Amino acid sequence: MLRTLPFPDQRPPEYIKLEGEPVFDANIHLKLEVPRSVTSLKALGYDDNIITECPSDFGVSSAFRIFSDEGLTVMRDVCLKMYDNRNISVGTGVNRLGSYVRGAGYRSKFIKDFCDSPELAEHLSAIADVQLARHSVPAVACGVNYAPEDITRAVDSWHTDSVAFDIVIMLSDPDGFEGGEFQYFEGTKMEGQELLGISGEEGIDIDLPEERVVTVPFPAAGYGFMQQGNMIFHRARRLKKKAERMTMIPSFVVVPAHAPDATNSVNMAGWDDPCLSAELARHEAWRAAARLEALVDNISLHDTRKRLVDDLDVALAPLLEFRNRLSKDVN
Ligand SMILES: [Fe+2]
Repeated sequence: MLRTLPFPDQRPPEYIKLEGEPVFDANIHLKLEVPRSVTSLKALGYDDNIITECPSDFGVSSAFRIFSDEGLTVMRDVCLKMYDNRNISVGTGVNRLGSYVRGAGYRSKFIKDFCDSPELAEHLSAIADVQLARHSVPAVACGVNYAPEDITRAVDSWHTDSVAFDIVIMLSDPDGFEGGEFQYFEGTKMEGQELLGISGEEGIDIDLPEERVVTVPFPAAGYGFMQQGNMIFHRARRLKKKAERMTMIPSFVVVPAHAPDATNSVNMAGWDDPCLSAELARHEAWRAAARLEALVDNISLHDTRKRLVDDLDVALAPLLEFRNRLSKDVN
């Protein structure tokens, strides 16, 4: 089991720690099943040059069972308790998402231990065909989305994710709400963005051609699907009537730490969640340190100057790009 970066031993002061939670136990709270179908990046129209740059050809799966009945009961309870302490209500600003919790693992040890569970990481790694571990940025390691108070807003508009792998777990009874469908575009993200006339990762709430849009069915609460989220153009539609629609979105990094990393820290630097800049700096420092360590082992005394410069650039580029983005906000 390859390790991820541990959670920091501090907590953003805005986040209230839940007390008296049950202790997470994979044997009791998980009931991991395999998805019936998986759609590859190739099937979505990505060409081989792009797929080679990705950690795997896995695109998106059908929903499969993740929580046992007991696990679902506890997770629903924890997520309902966090609602009043969600990010939008602590002055962290409104963004694309209607109503959400980031960094749920700071508030709930049950959630942290669930997201950290080796059983979950191993299961997802086998499905994605690449070694995954809980995401090293706590804000995105375990997020929870609630329906917006204003139901005329989409739960989440068309976008790609700033992390490579995530699972979207339905925590509410899918028969208990109308609308709120999770959908992805059957094509590449470039094509989807072009059809909508947008660039980058952030969404816009208009419709793509219906025949190119796939709705992911959730058989019941406790089921979730996995996606290579930075490659899948997706959204969650608005509810037709006010109702509970709660999803949990744990994210994962590719390990070992020197492996290529699609985490978009530069984009996330524009989010205003508490302590996120420090979380991102920690993540980028961790990955850069691992790349430099691998470089120490790989440098040959016979390497040319050009080769050495290129190798150092590759090891340092994501860290420096993030550093330069942060420095824009420093007076
Ligand atoms: Fe997303």
